[in-house]
Order: sequence, then C-alpha cells, then structure tokens
Amino acid sequence: LPALSASLVVTADRMLDVKRGKLINDAVVVIEDNVISQAGSAQDITIDNDARIIRLGDATLLPGLMDMHVHLTSDAATHGYKRLGVSVPRATLKAVKHASDTLHAGFTTVRNVGAPGFADVALKDAINAGEITGPRMFVAGPSLGVTGGHCDNNLLPFDYAQTSDGVADGPWEIRKAVRRNIKYGADLIKFCATGGVLSKGTKVGAQQYTAEEMQALVEEAHLRGLTVATHAHGTSGIKAAIRAGVDSVEHASLLDDEAIRLAVENNTYLSMDVYVTEYILSEGKAAGILEESLAKERTVGKTQRESFSKAVKAGVKMVFGSDAGVYPHGDNSRQFARMVKFGMTPLQAIQAATINAASLLKQQDKLGSVEPGMLADIIAVPGNPLEKIQVLENVTLVIKNGEIIRQPED
Ligand code: ARG
Repeated sequence: LPALSASLVVTADRMLDVKRGKLINDAVVVIEDNVISQAGSAQDITIDNDARIIRLGDATLLPGLMDMHVHLTSDAATHGYKRLGVSVPRATLKAVKHASDTLHAGFTTVRNVGAPGFADVALKDAINAGEITGPRMFVAGPSLGVTGGHCDNNLLPFDYAQTSDGVADGPWEIRKAVRRNIKYGADLIKFCATGGVLSKGTKVGAQQYTAEEMQALVEEAHLRGLTVATHAHGTSGIKAAIRAGVDSVEHASLLDDEAIRLAVENNTYLSMDVYVTEYILSEGKAAGILEESLAKERTVGKTQRESFSKAVKAGVKMVFGSDAGVYPHGDNSRQFARMVKFGMTPLQAIQAATINAASLLKQQDKLGSVEPGMLADIIAVPGNPLEKIQVLENVTLVIKNGEIIRQPED
C-alpha cells in the first residue's frame, strides 16, 4: 500500500485574503500534497491528528508572490561590455542560483521575459524535474525585436556580425520567429516595441516595429494561445502595442492620457519597474552600464514614476514586474515600498503581485490566492504588511507546491 502522506498545517495570527482585501485573524491553512484543502479562521478548520504543524504566531500568511518581469539568466553585477564575456551556458549556471534566491525571497512564480538560447526553457524544465530549486516559471525564450533595436545586441561593430536570437523584421519573419519560439518551449512572447535604457544606441522614446508588424506578432501568438508582453517606454510604441492587442506593457514609462485610456479600455496590464532606477543610478556604473544608458535612466526613471502615479489613479490594471537581473535577484520585494510611495495602497501592491499576476498568466484558478483547491504556494512575513509594506522584504516562510522551501528556524 502507498504510504498516506500526512497533511501539512500552517497557523499564524493573520492571513491576508487578497481577493476580498481583508485580514483573517487566527489563521489556519491545511495542505494536502501540493494543494490547499482548507484555509480560514481556526474555529472553521478541522485538523488531522497526525498532521505536521508549523506555528508562526505574530506573522501574516499570504499567497506566494509573483514577479511578472525577471531575467533569471542576467547578473546584476555584469552589464554592458562585461556581459559579452558571459556565455549562455555560464549565464544558465548563474541562473540556477538566481532561481533559488528568488524563491527564497518569497517569489513562488515568475515570468521570465527574455533569455538567449532558450536558457529559460532549460531552467524551467530543471526546476519542474526537481533537479534544482526555483520558482514556477513562465518563459518567453528570446525576445523578438527589430534589427538594431533594444532586443538586439548593438555593442559590437559590423565586423563581428553579432545579432541577437530574437531579431526578426517584417510580418512574416516575425510570425516565423513566434512559431520558432513556440516550437522550442516559450509560454509567452516578449517583444520590444521601443528603444530602451540599457541598450546601446537606442532611443527610449522611439517606436520599434510598425503597427503592422506588431499586429502580425500579436495575432500569431494569440492564434496559438500565448499571451504577449511588450517592452515599451515611448508613448507611440505603447499605444501601438496596446492597439495591436498585447496583454501587458512592460516599463510603460512615458504614458500620456490617451495611453492610459487605451490601457483601461483594452484591459491591458502595465508592469512598471519603479524600483530598478535606484539600483541603476547607484550601482550601474560599477556594474558596467554605459554612460549613455545612465544618462537615459536619469530622465526616464523620474517620468516613469509620475506615469505610475497617474495610471494607478486612473485604475489601470497593474502587475508587479521588477526587472530583477538588472538588479540582484532576491531583492525583488524592494519594489513594493516604492509602489506604495508612488500611489498604491499596500493591498493594491500585494494584489499586483498575486491575483492580478495570476490573471495575466491565466492561472487565477490555481495561483494567486490562499483558498481551497489552489496550488499550495504560501509565504509568511513578520507583522502586518497592510500596516508596513516593507515586511515583504523579510519573508520567513516559503512553501511552493506543498514543499517547504524555508521556515523560520532556517
Ligand atoms: N531593461 C530596461 C531597459 O533597458 C530597464 C529600464 C529600467 N529603468 C526604468 N526606469 N524602469 O529599458
């Protein structure tokens, strides 16, 4: 007979019901295998005699956090020309540590929005096979973009004939690139709709890909049942991407009123990395970020924060996206306090990293809340995050898929 696995029980003074936005006191969660079987107030829960119990006391239970914009194969200490010395195999080995750091920080799910050589697919497969420790991954493979654009590599002169894996120009080349990414394991498509901060020679405000190209890309991805995330700082690129039907706009730095209105009308999620600017401006030079990129960041970061405040006020749907990889993996949570500083309530910031992210991934029936029937991805933080959002930077318990990754004694 197969051994009956005892259930795992976690108790804490509080649990956050992220859907209804309220705290449940004297909270108990019961986990059977990898699924939550009961969750609520102690008086409503029945516990088996042989259950394993973790008692946390003055802590708040939350669903596992979800970061919709990471690059696990990127290393924050290695930017610009330094990155040319890092092979894809080396970057993938670094990603093993980055994945573990991310999960230990309480991020049980991530969306990896761009990796060379399908390294993200390999990483995800190794995690799912139980060979290494890391978050649930939804992966894009190589990001698509125009020749010489933000998703290309423009560091070397013509002599070196260097082109990134995701470069594709024109509707049919783009459709073929989408099909290739799907063939090799992409869960979603990421493309660059404008220039960027960290790429050499690109203008953040300038659109890359025509409306026609974006429409072809989004149509091809949606036909195959994949969502689309687009890197877009500049206003015209943001609008063209939203009109083409993208599911999320990353960065979304230069929003005007029309862009905000379009996002609301089209139910487009914005994933705005409002912490990373601090890391780029303080540590970026030493990490190898080009002076031209630092100059771009000095203006973009400030405007992005203003755009964030306006978008929150207007009620645009927001997900948590950090761009970790530009800054150190495991520090993802530092962004929560900035989201609150620039206009969200603590609850809204937490919802961006839980139920909203789960909806963007079309996983809201499995992920993003602590309820019976959901996958057992649960974290705990000391104190009450609705009173002090910074406690999310000190996650003490992480359970992923019913497995205890860390607990307070560790
Ligand atoms: N990967 C992005 C880019 O190079 C990072 C932008 C960071 N800056 C910001 N203010 N969000 O464009």
